[in-house]
Order: sequence, then structure tokens, then C-alpha cells
Amino acid sequence: MVMNLNFRYKELIEIVEKQSPFNPDITLILGSGLGNFAKSISIKKTFSTNDLPGYPPSTIIGHEGKMHFAEYAGKKLLIFQGRIHLYEGYKIWECILPVFISYKLHTKYLLLTNAAGGVNKNFSPGNFMIANSFNGLFIKNELTKLIGIASLEGKNNFLKLPSSTLNSLIKKAAYEENIDLKEGVYWYIKGPSYETPAEINMIKKFNGDATGMSTVHEAVYAAYNGIETAAISCITNLAAGISPVKLSHEEVTSTARLAEKKLEILLKHTITLIE
Ligand code: HPA
Repeated sequence: MVMNLNFRYKELIEIVEKQSPFNPDITLILGSGLGNFAKSISIKKTFSTNDLPGYPPSTIIGHEGKMHFAEYAGKKLLIFQGRIHLYEGYKIWECILPVFISYKLHTKYLLLTNAAGGVNKNFSPGNFMIANSFNGLFIKNELTKLIGIASLEGKNNFLKLPSSTLNSLIKKAAYEENIDLKEGVYWYIKGPSYETPAEINMIKKFNGDATGMSTVHEAVYAAYNGIETAAISCITNLAAGISPVKLSHEEVTSTARLAEKKLEILLKHTITLIE
């Protein structure tokens, strides 16, 4: 059965449509340990997602459950500080709620950020990677339940993922800010825990560059609905088996915190470049 999101989130959308100060040009979803961007710009209005009927409560440290309307460089922004993951036990239609809200508010662009494990041997913790493609084979079943029979327009939209416009602006911004930006394939893993060394070996063999437990379903759903979408990963750790130390959520969030200022510069410059 395909979930009818308009029906399921009717009340939530009515509240957001009524109370939001504007329709955003750009939506940002901030990943683990990367939420402070929201504190660096002028916020017009904040919703606590706990106050929105049907919005899934965040269960993870570092994901705040806030939705901000903000302005920067003359652009209207919608910023999700905290996201929803399948590994928290949520359904796919709950995980893409930030994208659905953005879609209902007619956002044009979506910038996704995430913390990810580095699989490519040339990556180091603290690097940023722009996704030039995504591997979402492990959530095709869920995506089918979300989208149902894809329309021709949706299928054509999906082929534009990631947005070449956004990706070239992010690269330009990184170049102009002297930020070392890697490029590669973001590989989705469902979780609930970090990968095993054996799983990382497989991802490496199939040319994955970074691995994480978010982003791909948001990106697919957004692109399908005609939103120009791109993703930036903060490589917070070397993936399991590549790193001699055991992975932990603390390592992920502390590296993300260290890299956050640079991400803020990159995002702000990119936003300035968007027409
Ligand atoms: N694997 C999966 N998700 C992650 C990782 C990782 O190594 N680092 C941050 N998020």
C-alpha cells in the first residue's frame, strides 16, 4: 500500500502553511553534529517539531528537532536541524517528512548535509564530499512503497539527481573559499549500527566513496518531485575496518563539530551563488 501523505499530514501541513512566514527558496537539512549552521544566520521563525502533529520525535543525540525559517543573502531558507532515520524504527514516509513539508511550501532547491564514513582511501576525517551519485539499492523496496507507480514526469525528474546546477555552484563556492571538496558516491546503509569491516569491503569493491544512513531517500523523493537537490557529506571518520580505532557516535559528532565552521562557510557561499 502506498501512503497518502496529503491525508496523513493534513493537519501538520495546514499549521505550517498558516504559520510559516514565507515559502522558502532553499531547504537545508543538517546532519549529525552539523546543526549549528542554524545559529549563524538570521532566524525569522522556529517551530519545535514536537509541536507539529504527527512529526516523529528525534531519538538521537545531536538531532535537535527544530525547523527554522531564516534569511541569508536575500534568499528565503527553511532549515531542518535534525532529521529522521529508518534505523530509529521510523517508516520511510516519516523519514521524508522534512522534504514533504518543503515540497508543500514550494521550495526550489534542497541542500542535504550528512556525517558519513570515508571509504575512499584518499579521504580523511574532516574532508567534505559532494555526491556525484547515490547508491540506494538497499531501500528500493521502501522507496517503491513511498512513491508507488512512478509518473513519467517524476521518473524524468529523478534522472536529474544530483542537480548539476547545485553541484557546480557548490564546487565554485568551495574553490572560491579554498575548501578542499572531494567528489564521490554516497552509499546508503540502513543501519541500525555502523557497518562491519566486511560490509565496507563490499562497498569499496563497488566503488562507493562514503557511507551513511540517511540522505538517499530524501534526495530521491525530492528529485522525483522536481526539487533541485544536492548533498554534501562531512567525512567524520574512516569507515569500519579502514580505521584502526573502533567507531563511535562521539567520534562522528566531535569531528563534525570541528568541521562545522568550514561547512557553514561553504553553505553560505553556495546560497549566495544560487540565483
Ligand atoms: N557509517 C555509517 N554512517 C556514518 C558513518 C559510518 O562510518 N559515519 C557517520 N555516519
